[in-house]
Amino acid sequence: MHIFCTDMEGKEHKLQATEEWSVMEIIREGGIPILAQCGGSCACATCHVYVDPAWKDKLPEPNEEEIGMLDGAFEVNENSRLACQMIFNEKLNGLKIKLAPGSV
Ligand code: FES
Repeated sequence: MHIFCTDMEGKEHKLQATEEWSVMEIIREGGIPILAQCGGSCACATCHVYVDPAWKDKLPEPNEEEIGMLDGAFEVNENSRLACQMIFNEKLNGLKIKLAPGSV
């Protein structure tokens, strides 16, 4: 299984994905630099990514904590999510995300 991650230069990377890992961990393991300063505790918003609109509805809704943290992120839009709060499973095979400003 895999996800596709577009970096800040606009280059798309195909990354091997493991079930139960967060998307942030998959990005890191794939060698793409992502700040993710709090290590996945939903306390920094430096793992901000944009989810491809085609995938947005396949993800569980963000919880209050994630919504609150995204409030403080840069250039948030309707496709913004925190990569550490999205847990990969087989239904997300092929997920496309793009790194957002402030996450690198
Ligand atoms: S790594 Fe800090 S909120 Fe995701």
